[in-house]
Amino acid sequence: MTFLSDSIARVQPSPTIAMTQRASELKAEGRDIISLSAGEPDFDTPDHIRQAGKDAIDAGHTRYTAVDGMPALKAAVARKFKRENGLDYTPAQITVGTGGKQILYNALMATLNPGDEVIVPAPYWVSYPDMVRLAGATPVMVPCPAETGFKLTPEALKGAITPRTKWLILNSPGNPSGAGYDRTAMKALTDVLLDAPHVWVLADDIYEHLVFDGFEFCTPAQVEPRLKDRTLTMNGVSKAYAMTGWRIGYGAGPETLIRAMAKLQSQSTSNPSSISQHAALAALDGPQDYIAESRTAFQRRRDLVVSGLNQCEGITCPTPQGAFYVYPSITGLIGRTSDGGTQITTDEDFANALLEETGVAVVFGAAFGLSPHFRISYATSDEELTDAVARIRRFCAGCR
Ligand SMILES: Cc1ncc(COP(=O)(O)O)c(C=O)c1O
Repeated sequence: MTFLSDSIARVQPSPTIAMTQRASELKAEGRDIISLSAGEPDFDTPDHIRQAGKDAIDAGHTRYTAVDGMPALKAAVARKFKRENGLDYTPAQITVGTGGKQILYNALMATLNPGDEVIVPAPYWVSYPDMVRLAGATPVMVPCPAETGFKLTPEALKGAITPRTKWLILNSPGNPSGAGYDRTAMKALTDVLLDAPHVWVLADDIYEHLVFDGFEFCTPAQVEPRLKDRTLTMNGVSKAYAMTGWRIGYGAGPETLIRAMAKLQSQSTSNPSSISQHAALAALDGPQDYIAESRTAFQRRRDLVVSGLNQCEGITCPTPQGAFYVYPSITGLIGRTSDGGTQITTDEDFANALLEETGVAVVFGAAFGLSPHFRISYATSDEELTDAVARIRRFCAGCR
């Protein structure tokens, strides 16, 4: 008999974190490493938000709050949904947790039973399938290759739905591909869901504000109001306001679901940090200049990385609509051998050889369920990105 539970045995440690850790180890050994594996903005949290956190401490807001968010923050979240998404939610339909990650976790744990299925378009954010498995249910991965713009098609969605399907997880713009669904593409999916009334939608909108070239973000409950009473619209302040360490995410949906999620949170973490809640309140209600500034910087970096990678032999890099990732294909390198003598048969071989031979840390595509690709997070300085792309170009040129 093993001491550890069956559910923990079903879960994999995050490959993204493993790659970031390996890069840190090499750095500690004195190697010149550029880490493009972590998914967080490199900017500082805007001043007025940091100040709100400090003020919260000085004002004594250091005690427990309501389990799933203080009323003032829920009211600010409701205003955000109205202002930015045209969605009406009451405070009772809103929940606040320790990052968007806890919102997703609460929703899945509060609804899934063994035998239930969750549709996860691939490439996917690494945590979705493992959270589903932790809840004892089955993730059903649907390949969405570069040819469909890394997007789920209505036909593929229709083909994946079974009587056991409980949720469709939809992440737009998405991690790791940066693909975004415009209104037409989203409507095509919501039309399929209208014919499958037992399927709920988990909309992960965490990259909402990071969209480029005038791309217009949309979310399922807004595109198809008839789905609103079976949709959880999830979002957070991590990526929008460079607040990854503050750990505040939120979701909105039908009251029965929100109450069940709060019940779970009351028996696990209780309320998210009171100080962070005050900072998130300042983020949502305060000046929004940071959003446009960061969007401009990320679009410039995206263009730099996409054009640089497309000049690398064997790499093809599509231009994403949003987020701060690119997901290039390495089909042209498979079967070759690197300068350092590594035979590249998988994208994992590629990522390992790239790190060992050039010091550039990226995450291999198999981790996200679609190969042969790799993910670059371009949330780092233009100088580092230029250097990284030059190293990748030399690496590819050395592959025979
Ligand atoms: C697609 C996606 N969803 C959700 C999250 C969770 O973000 P947080 O828990 O910081 O709000 C992340 C973070 O990397 C993400 O990439």
